[in-house]
Amino acid sequence: MSARAHDAPAAGAPAVAHLPTAAPEALRRHVAGLLALCRPGRALPGGCFTDETLYQAEIEYLFGRHWLFVATEPEVPEAGDYRTLAIGPWPIFILRRDDGSIAAFHNTCRHRGSRILQQDSGIAGATLQCPYHRWTYDLDGRVVGCGATGELPHEQPPLKRIHVKTLAGLIFVCLAAEPPADFDDMAARMTPYLAPHGLSHAKVARQVDILEQGNWKLTIENNRECFHCAGHPELLCSLFDFFGEVDVADLSAAERANYARYQAARTEVQAIWQRAGLPWRPIEELHGRATGFRTERLVLDGAGESMTADTRVASRRLLGELTAARLGTLHYHTQPNAWFHFLSDHVLTFATLPIDRTHTLVRSTWLVHAEAVEGRDYDLANLTSVWNATNSQDAHFVAETQRGVSSPAYEPGPIAANEYMVAMFHAWYEERLRAELGI
Ligand code: FES
Ligand SMILES: [Fe+2]
Repeated sequence: MSARAHDAPAAGAPAVAHLPTAAPEALRRHVAGLLALCRPGRALPGGCFTDETLYQAEIEYLFGRHWLFVATEPEVPEAGDYRTLAIGPWPIFILRRDDGSIAAFHNTCRHRGSRILQQDSGIAGATLQCPYHRWTYDLDGRVVGCGATGELPHEQPPLKRIHVKTLAGLIFVCLAAEPPADFDDMAARMTPYLAPHGLSHAKVARQVDILEQGNWKLTIENNRECFHCAGHPELLCSLFDFFGEVDVADLSAAERANYARYQAARTEVQAIWQRAGLPWRPIEELHGRATGFRTERLVLDGAGESMTADTRVASRRLLGELTAARLGTLHYHTQPNAWFHFLSDHVLTFATLPIDRTHTLVRSTWLVHAEAVEGRDYDLANLTSVWNATNSQDAHFVAETQRGVSSPAYEPGPIAANEYMVAMFHAWYEERLRAELGI
């Protein structure tokens, strides 16, 4: 399916919420002072993980002003289905409307401010009702009832809307009044990669939330390199940890044998991609744009089918109209908060949302074909075991790094060549803070 834009409010619909635009001079000076300590090719300085003012600026100017991946369409499959979440201090909800489109609103009542939808997910019905004093809203956010307060509904301001876009079944929101316009370019270029996996017609097999004991940037940095992948024995059953340019001269004998196997598999699987009409060439635009992203279709080790312990598909029912099981994995990364694996039999999405300066929610979602039946077509433990183990290992890496970088003795060390995506994340981080704060 193609990217569908729902960000333009319909005629008569509520205006999108506005955030303050100009950063205070003291904040600009403070952030500029911290950014001045960042050195290209080095890890971030300790202040980037310990400074509370900087954290608040990141929430407002990065998370408050960029496109964030928050959910998949199969999480709200029917009209009236909603999901709630929080982006920093902003409680929000996404909602499937009667016409099939997705809307997003601030989850703050227009009476005295209570959260309106108070469960993680649910079915709204024809209207939404705030439980506090029973103000009622239609699915466009208009007030249609004021309970016993005696106010006139049509005189009340509607719920504040949030920009939302879908991309091949992925739901992104942006809290800014004027979201970055380059999302549409990303969507146009990513749709041919993602659409064949039929995510819009998948179903959630499992969703797991982990509260990592670390700053959100440590979570993203950890995701952006596989230098640490020796710590992921389950993942390495299927994943070849070769990214970017590989200098064979730098490899050990064992790594060279692995690399030779990788190259042989790549030749075979590239022919499969070609026959299936699947694009595979990398796109590397993790910085230099507001909506930084990266993709690459990768071959997998062993049978090459999926990120499972035996490298075979976990679900016999392949996604979309796919007929070949041995498709490896399509990696897709978006700044600042998400990464994805699109396989032949399942899709795995990861949304990262900061809770506070030292705690980060990582939400992992496994999706299979909507008609796949648990126990017949897939075994849930087999589907989820590799990434449950990997997530747990990554959470440990992040927590221990948070403890280390919080020490006054911490000094930023060098970023290795195989950590180049970490450097690209740093570049995006600095570019976007400077652009949004005007420094
Ligand atoms: S706060 Fe929602 S009805 Fe009063
Ligand atoms: Fe990892």
